[in-house]
Amino acid sequence: MNKNLKCLISAGPTREWVDSVRFISNPSSGKMGYALASEAKKRGYSVVLVSGPVRLDKIEGISTHFVENAKEMELEMTNHFDSANIIIMCAAVSDHRPKNKKSGKIKKNDFAKSIDLVENPDILKGLGKRKKKGQLLVGFAAEAENFAQNAKQKLIQKNLDWIAMNDISNPSHGFGSDHNEIFLYSSTGEEVKLKSAPKNLLAKQIFEEILK
Ligand code: CTP
Repeated sequence: MNKNLKCLISAGPTREWVDSVRFISNPSSGKMGYALASEAKKRGYSVVLVSGPVRLDKIEGISTHFVENAKEMELEMTNHFDSANIIIMCAAVSDHRPKNKKSGKIKKNDFAKSIDLVENPDILKGLGKRKKKGQLLVGFAAEAENFAQNAKQKLIQKNLDWIAMNDISNPSHGFGSDHNEIFLYSSTGEEVKLKSAPKNLLAKQIFEEILK
């Protein structure tokens, strides 16, 4: 099948530590990324999964690299990118990190009213710049408004071939849920709605669409 083809996937949240006991993150469970990795394995790809902190079992036969923060995820994704045929950036990356991580626990009274943040690298945008002919680059978009417009803007700005958009304002879908509803947009103008389904079925449908 696809034995000699490599599929690189990121999954889960990133965690950006404020001090030794607190971090900035998001509720991503990693289920969608792990479902995509399983589907890629079923299709015979050699799969590399770059995973943020999740409570999911490691998938047998998939080379999994665990990372914690956005900079570590960027490094792993970049290291594996050039040799990958299909790259799917499914992780929910924290856009910012605390400027300085304090060691120990900041005491209640000293906890600043605001935390100084710096922007994290946009990993996917960086991968889009490195993309070579023949590589298929897929991103995700978590949107709460102006759904299609925002997703299509990311598709262009990050030099993607496809973007999978989910409506995060719908509490029955997305983050943490076993189900999702996805709208796929391609750089060549295709638009496909994948109706609400378990994430493993969506993963199958996403592969069917992006490989058509
Ligand atoms: N992404 C990334 N690095 C970041 C932020 C996002 O690689 N620092 C990737 C995500 O993995 C996803 C895509 O970019 O594939 C879109 O992420 P999303 O959170 O929807 O959008 P942002 O680019 O962060 O923009 P905004 O927060 O303004 O919606």
